[in-house]
Amino acid sequence: MTNKLTFTRPDDWHLHLRDGRAMQSVLPDIARRFARAIIMPNLKPPVVTTAQAAAYRARILSALPQELAGRFEPLMTLYLTDTTTPEEISRAKASGIVQAVKLYPAGATTHSDAGVTDIARCEATLAMMEKLDMPLLVHGEVVDPAVDIFDREKFFIDRMLIPLLQRFPGLRVVFEHITTKEAVEFVQAVPNRIAATITAHHLMLNRNALFIGGLQPHHYCLPVLKREIHRQALVTVATSGHARFFLGTDSAPHPLGDKESACGCAGIYSAHAAIEFYAEVFERAGKLDQLEAFASFHGPDFYGLPRNTGKISLSQESWQIPEEIEFGGDKLIPLRAGGQVGWKLMEG
Ligand code: NCD
Ligand code: ZN
Repeated sequence: MTNKLTFTRPDDWHLHLRDGRAMQSVLPDIARRFARAIIMPNLKPPVVTTAQAAAYRARILSALPQELAGRFEPLMTLYLTDTTTPEEISRAKASGIVQAVKLYPAGATTHSDAGVTDIARCEATLAMMEKLDMPLLVHGEVVDPAVDIFDREKFFIDRMLIPLLQRFPGLRVVFEHITTKEAVEFVQAVPNRIAATITAHHLMLNRNALFIGGLQPHHYCLPVLKREIHRQALVTVATSGHARFFLGTDSAPHPLGDKESACGCAGIYSAHAAIEFYAEVFERAGKLDQLEAFASFHGPDFYGLPRNTGKISLSQESWQIPEEIEFGGDKLIPLRAGGQVGWKLMEG
């Protein structure tokens, strides 16, 4: 008999859904697997006001196919800029639909040119977030061109994160898509108000995946893949049951032409098999019993939201990932295109 895994329906605490027709193509992949997702605000132009977040949320809900309507809740975020006001934070909190505010250091990643140039400019706004208990989500990389790209996360801890936590002792922070053992150790060492999300691709791949057999643009994301020792540290902590590490896919779709280009952009699409990839990682680590806590409990507990009551089931059978996916009239190359995954979503 095939092995079957049933557990509380998971949430994705870091997701790029894009907008318009592109969003319509990728939304079902997420909504079939996850009950809720933290929606990243890095649209062009970015989602900087509560009104824009409400409008984006409405577009997401109306893009859900009929069979998934009412089954998926987008949790909205605002994009922090140098000019975000404390009043905007109050409005966001009062709206009940904005769960967090995202800090992108300007220039750190895809669509981050409107990001924060100097955190000192956000002083009053961060103080309001601290006061209202609005979590700050950080893209944890410095942008200093003198810093080696593989060390940007490590430098972010010392240069930005430690001073930020000292300046705002009550601010809750999610260190997004961590990729290094230094980030793991830092989150473990700081008391309860800091948590971290971990992607499936950083649990599965190390930086060799960027170069094996030639340059692999579909494995390029930010933060960039790291050495094997870092991947192992991520797997160890994700499967350990530690309550402040949880699932965030950072699934970030881009059209084929933007990836396979002279200057390919950052972002890996994993939503088509997201929970299946995590199941594989936990199974390989001999820790399948910890998957539910990582995917379905730790996130809502940290955000102060109820855990989901519905269930999801995966069967242990191999299926083939398509070579490409339709993406708003364009093509999208999914993670592990054409390859096999060992767990399959059971619909229902
Ligand atoms: C993200 C995107 O494409 O929006 N890309 C990525 O490589 N993760 C931006 C981000 O989260 O850094
Ligand atoms: Zn992201």
